[in-house]
Amino acid sequence: MKKFINAVIYRHDDASEILVDNGVIKAIGKDLGPADEIIDLGGKLVTAPYVDPHLHLDYVYTLSALGQEGAGSGTLFEAIEMWPKFKETLTVDSVKRLALKAMLELREELEDIVEIQIIAFPQQGMYTYKGGRDLVEEALKMGADVVGGIPHYEPAREFGERSVHDIVKLALKYDKLIDVHCDETDDPHSRFVELLNALVLMEDYGSRTTASHTCSFGSADNSYAFRMIDLFKKSKMNFISCPTENAYLQGRQDSYPKRRGLTRVKEFIEAGINVAFAQDSINDPWYPMGNGNMMNILDNGIHLAQIMSPEDIKRDLDLITYNGARCLNIQDRYGLEVGKDANFIVLNGDSPFDVIRNRANVLASVRKGEYLFKQKPVEYEVELDLGVKY
Ligand code: FE2
Repeated sequence: MKKFINAVIYRHDDASEILVDNGVIKAIGKDLGPADEIIDLGGKLVTAPYVDPHLHLDYVYTLSALGQEGAGSGTLFEAIEMWPKFKETLTVDSVKRLALKAMLELREELEDIVEIQIIAFPQQGMYTYKGGRDLVEEALKMGADVVGGIPHYEPAREFGERSVHDIVKLALKYDKLIDVHCDETDDPHSRFVELLNALVLMEDYGSRTTASHTCSFGSADNSYAFRMIDLFKKSKMNFISCPTENAYLQGRQDSYPKRRGLTRVKEFIEAGINVAFAQDSINDPWYPMGNGNMMNILDNGIHLAQIMSPEDIKRDLDLITYNGARCLNIQDRYGLEVGKDANFIVLNGDSPFDVIRNRANVLASVRKGEYLFKQKPVEYEVELDLGVKY
């Protein structure tokens, strides 16, 4: 039995201790009694691990690996056009080294340190790319966990709609989750989210479905948005917003005022619709920056979506933890709750406000009660002396 003490525990206001037995949380509370090992967390904030629910892991570092630092005009469509040229230069070895094709192997190899879900995503469309739909089906048969699509990239609305029908049919046929790149454009007439929501509402499949990006919904007319938000509530569909990537990619055809590129995150939260933030890209043709630091994503997201009231700040961490877990449908085994695996991170601060304001580092990550990593406190070789005591 192991006891972590002296912690501020997110979503457990009155607790300061976590008791762990054989990697599983046995109790969360105060004065939990004796244990074989006591670990003092120094009054720091503990939360369930960060979740990045939408990441192009197979593209990671492809931009720098190919000797480029920027991505030209910085539009989504330019990046999609660039991608086949990048693919040509890749070998199976480089793919594996870059954590590319070997996703299925990687999922097993890394299962002790990270949980990965794999999405069958037709980057160049189900119809724009000949045979794209069949490749998605093949990937599902091979063991992908999620069905993807990109209807706004199909060459005509009709094909975009057809792809949305295909996505839902394939998910039902193979019992898979759905995560659609949906309306990643400023064009308010791109409304594939409406069809996706209608189909999963009728199939009662919304909680297993995520609409990612939905940038055009940030440009939609309010009367349309009002109607749709009501329908989203009915379907219980999830949303993922990628604040850094879409702030970078969208608004490129605007002069001024220039749009922010984000979907209606604040309104979703207020309506009780599940929405999470993600780091979409790490140094690939779509976005040159990105390093997987979810605190940076939260920081950008809460600025762009203006979610910083005292009430917002108390729950903003949900956007990179619990809400993402719901998108992945892992909420039954995720989170700081008795009976679940003792998986958590320790942040360098003592409250949600403190860690968000200071963009706090992750000091340690614990998985099944054991440290995955632990950082030493920063030591100065020469410390700034202001001559004041505080
Ligand atoms: Fe994406």
